[in-house]
Amino acid sequence: MIFIDACLKKETPYTPVWMMRQAGRYLPEYMAVRQSVGGFLNLCKDYKKASEVTLQPVDILGVDAAILFSDILVIPLEMGMDLEFIKGQGPVFHNPIRTDEDLKKLDEKGAPDKLTYVYDTIKLTRDKLAQDKALIGFCGSPWTNATYMIEGGSTKTYAICKKMIYQNPLFVHQILRKVTDATKIYLENQIKSGVNAVQIFDSWASALEKDKFFEFSWKYIIEIVDYIKDRYPDIPVIVFPKGISGYLDKISGNFDVFGVDWSTPMELASKKLSDRYTLQGNMEPTRLYSKDAIKESVENILNIMKGKSHIFNLGHGILPDVPVENAKYFIKLVQEMSAV
Ligand code: CP3
Repeated sequence: MIFIDACLKKETPYTPVWMMRQAGRYLPEYMAVRQSVGGFLNLCKDYKKASEVTLQPVDILGVDAAILFSDILVIPLEMGMDLEFIKGQGPVFHNPIRTDEDLKKLDEKGAPDKLTYVYDTIKLTRDKLAQDKALIGFCGSPWTNATYMIEGGSTKTYAICKKMIYQNPLFVHQILRKVTDATKIYLENQIKSGVNAVQIFDSWASALEKDKFFEFSWKYIIEIVDYIKDRYPDIPVIVFPKGISGYLDKISGNFDVFGVDWSTPMELASKKLSDRYTLQGNMEPTRLYSKDAIKESVENILNIMKGKSHIFNLGHGILPDVPVENAKYFIKLVQEMSAV
């Protein structure tokens, strides 16, 4: 698998490419399947349909890896939280974690066993996926999941969870402990079910100042990385802490791939991070609206990464109204231009 080879710093015939959020609303084929089951969470829980939409971007766009179709929030959901995806509002937890009582109710031990629909999706998908394509499993970082669990949904200010960090840090650590414990077993079960690599999404890393990022987010990410790499040294682990370009020189660990977000110049990531890591990224996702903008960025990023270990990706998720034709153009261009 060329994707796995690139993760492990082996030479590849071209730069492998996939897109964060590649299974999703910009694909009419996805919308049709989602409609047939009556919504996003039902789709996650229906392993046959979840597998179908996992495979769509491989068939339609020719990406080098499939990413499991699910969501980071299934961990808090199966720890006992009441999750709903509301149109126009995104995810909502009706019972946010604010008190010791709320904390006590979180069932971190039971959650991994309840996620059988994810493991079934993985088994079926790995069965159907071409041998040369990788299947990526994933989870949210404990911090990113905790922001939703504490706030009760998406937030612009992180006011409630950040206030908690300064007023009652121990309480936040207790939440993070539970989420970390559940996540370790969850990722291990994904690997046992057949994923070839895993990615840890820390989409809201940049909400924290430097010291708090290392204390409340990175520390727990590294704990998960070590847990997986100690047991499955051949499974590549990708980390994606978004928006932390100011302290890249403090980033190290047992992971294999560092996901570079679009706001971090690739040259900077390449200079500041040890060359033992493969870099993944990082085209600005909004460039997908213009073929000229795509070409300019693909040329530029391939140039910077020439001779270095690289997986091409967007610098965050694809947006719902991107023309499919442009996404196809992007994938093909990367594969063709990087071929040696
Ligand atoms: O990448 C993939 O295609 C695999 C599936 C995947 C989804 N979510 C499907 C999804 C992955 C890897 C995620 C990760 C995820 N989920 C993150 C981290 C990555 C990132 O984008 O920052 C976060 C923060 C979430 C939480 C989440 N899920 C939000 C905030 C939302 C609503 C916003 C939105 O895009 O609608 C979701 C819903 C969601 N997760 C959708 C999909 C395809 C859209 C649901 C739909 O309307 O069909």
